[in-house]
Amino acid sequence: MNPSIGTRRSKNIHLGNLVSYAQISQGLHILAENAWIRIEFWNPGVVRVRAGRMGESLDDFSYALDPNATRIPVSVELVAAPESIVLSGGDVQVRILTQPVSIQFLDETGRIVNSDDPAFGISWLGQEVSVYKTLQPGERFLGLGEKTGPLDKRGRAYVNNNTDHFGYGPDSDPLYASIPFFIGVHAQGIYGFFLNNSYKSTFNFGASSDRFAWYAVDDGQMDYFYLHGGLEGGVEHVLKSYTALTGAMPLPPKWALGFQQCRYSYYPDAELLRIAQTFREKHIPCDVLYLDIHYMDAFKVFSWHPEYFPNPKSLADQLKALGIRLVIIMDPGIKVEEGYAAYDSGMAEGHFALLPDGKPYRGQVWPGWSHFPDFTASKTREWWGAQMKIYSEAGIEGFWNDMNEPAAWGQHLPGLIEFDMEGEGSSFKEARNVYGMQMARATMEGASKLLGDKRPFNLTRAGFAGIQRYAAVWTGDNTASEEHMLAGVRLVNSLGLSGVAFAGYDIGGFVGESSPALYARWMQLGAFSPFFRAHSMINSRDSEPWSFGEEVEDIARNFIRLRYRLMPYLYAAFEGATSGLPIARSLALEWPQDPKIYQQPYDNAYLFGSEILVIPVESHKQLAKVYLPQGQWYDFYDDVAYDGGREVLLELNIEKLPLFVRSGAVIAMQSPVTHTGEAHDGTLQLHVYSGTQSRSFELFQDDGLANTASHRSEFARNRGFHDGASRILQIEGKEGTYPGEFQRIKLYLHGLTYEPTVLFNGTDINVQFDEFRLVEPVSRFDPFMPPVGNSPKVERLPCCTFSWDMENAIEIRY
Ligand code: GLC
Repeated sequence: MNPSIGTRRSKNIHLGNLVSYAQISQGLHILAENAWIRIEFWNPGVVRVRAGRMGESLDDFSYALDPNATRIPVSVELVAAPESIVLSGGDVQVRILTQPVSIQFLDETGRIVNSDDPAFGISWLGQEVSVYKTLQPGERFLGLGEKTGPLDKRGRAYVNNNTDHFGYGPDSDPLYASIPFFIGVHAQGIYGFFLNNSYKSTFNFGASSDRFAWYAVDDGQMDYFYLHGGLEGGVEHVLKSYTALTGAMPLPPKWALGFQQCRYSYYPDAELLRIAQTFREKHIPCDVLYLDIHYMDAFKVFSWHPEYFPNPKSLADQLKALGIRLVIIMDPGIKVEEGYAAYDSGMAEGHFALLPDGKPYRGQVWPGWSHFPDFTASKTREWWGAQMKIYSEAGIEGFWNDMNEPAAWGQHLPGLIEFDMEGEGSSFKEARNVYGMQMARATMEGASKLLGDKRPFNLTRAGFAGIQRYAAVWTGDNTASEEHMLAGVRLVNSLGLSGVAFAGYDIGGFVGESSPALYARWMQLGAFSPFFRAHSMINSRDSEPWSFGEEVEDIARNFIRLRYRLMPYLYAAFEGATSGLPIARSLALEWPQDPKIYQQPYDNAYLFGSEILVIPVESHKQLAKVYLPQGQWYDFYDDVAYDGGREVLLELNIEKLPLFVRSGAVIAMQSPVTHTGEAHDGTLQLHVYSGTQSRSFELFQDDGLANTASHRSEFARNRGFHDGASRILQIEGKEGTYPGEFQRIKLYLHGLTYEPTVLFNGTDINVQFDEFRLVEPVSRFDPFMPPVGNSPKVERLPCCTFSWDMENAIEIRY
């Protein structure tokens, strides 16, 4: 061992020169002067690099990697020369320079995509291990999970260390969840980098250095995956490879896609009924109400407040009769109080994280002094899940994991707390970033057991790489400001680039108070966020859609309804996300090499699903210059067509969020409903946008509730294809055994400059002309307020209706 390791004064120790190497399955094990390094092709296009100091053995422990993931073999060739060894597998070459040892990743044509700094590569500084990477010309850095700042994070540095950051600012770091995975983009290639180590890490994307970017972990082994993207479709490819490693989101229950209303806190039970009834009276769709900490007795998890909630089952039943489900909050801290069942059994069975002297650690949270379950022990996860019976007995199907960084007043939990780590044994330093994820896992596994064949909904604040397997993520205690609203959009887009497709923010801002216009704009954006929830803090203004006056209520109703009308489109996007594609898609997913999309504020824009372009804009702006990516676009409200690849000036008004649809798109909609469990009218509204582009689409149906793991074939999938140039729309017959809910299709033909004839399976069908409104006009309640704009519509939209048997393929020509 190098003598300076472990002493107080440490200098950088590099791997050193190559001493020897041995071929291993799909890779190499190299012995260098100061450490070893192991390079393995893990999957096609995916290379794993691990390095440790002399005497350190290979560490296979990981919560991030999906234990159910299967590896796909890669045939690897090796060519060795004194100055370099090259491993080639599929479209990736790994060139290992030997004097000193450093690594380069090249594509099949020999272009360098990612390269170690030739002098430093992998190095140790005390316990810390880093990899230094040469900054490529024009290299951009995307993703890294819940990280503030612009879409391109070049020139910034971030720390991955889960932190409860109440009222964080638009540039604060770190926040609640850490995902040490990013995507690099430059002219020579696109790649992903995933650091498989849960210790606190630093990702420096060229802040304070023009020579290298560097990624350092406080302790543990260097263990990273290089995910090759290729130039075409590179970002999507990387994301799919990353999902293959860390797992995909299970399909959530459909009700979790509906509108969710939260408050810190709604109580007593009558208040929840009043809120639910108000939604129904006002014809504002809603699927979920939340119980924040006041439902508990003295803030003790697994209890009901005896006066506020004397009969939770009856409350849940009454709400369910209105089509509304309850989601309850769970905090990890267990109050130290003899006679409290969770404390007693937790103590008796040894479920709390201990200090090295064997005494359970105590920290203060909502219930006062508390112990913290060790979710890194499987027996504790099971215990936690079993405690949740008190909720499932009351008919609760949705769970909200909060304060799981974990948070304790003071925010500085001591590093020496010990954790089981599946029997491996470690300290809080390694457990911190995975604590929230393992809590979410305990909740998900507990809920799945208790709910049997029903899909639970699970939400978490803290998380780590792979959290998507267990829960949706929301971005914590944001603040009511325009800046924060846009920052939230970027956070959700960034989470989408980091494997977490189901994410959202507190609409209206948790801390502080929104102006009516800000709330209206935020609600519009929320309707185009994967997770759609309004929330606000104790002692602040209410955040229900009717709390900001009649006009805002009309605007909110319009957009919440639109969300429900888009449910067939959205549900298919969610189903698609189970293979790794996000629902809110940063434009970098499709146009990574277009410099304009990175320009601020154009970097707020995203696709919702694959076809709808959302342009987030502040609520007070009258005009905005926006950038439409390449292609052709239609204004979603009035069908005005735009050429993309350029900036356009838009007139704004608070009644509509700028939305565009790409030419060739087919958007599936339905009649409005007040909750996802309510039947629509049986007509699938297919909005076809003409143009020379061809687009495919999907319709996915199931009962929205059953656990897909146990009911795999009980779905109906129809794939469709629109050939814009030939004006042909084809829909295949359905796959799967679910009967489906649509009997008719109403086809709307957008963007035509002529009156079409329509052939359905070769037969002429009657075309009519309807008025089309994406949103209803907002009523003028205040006689002194001038109208803000003309309510947009398409006056004569050609459409036709025909009956549809989902079993059979159909063809439409227009
Ligand atoms: C935390 C959560 C917030 C919740 C509050 C009370 O601050 O982030 O959403 O309302 O705790 O439980």
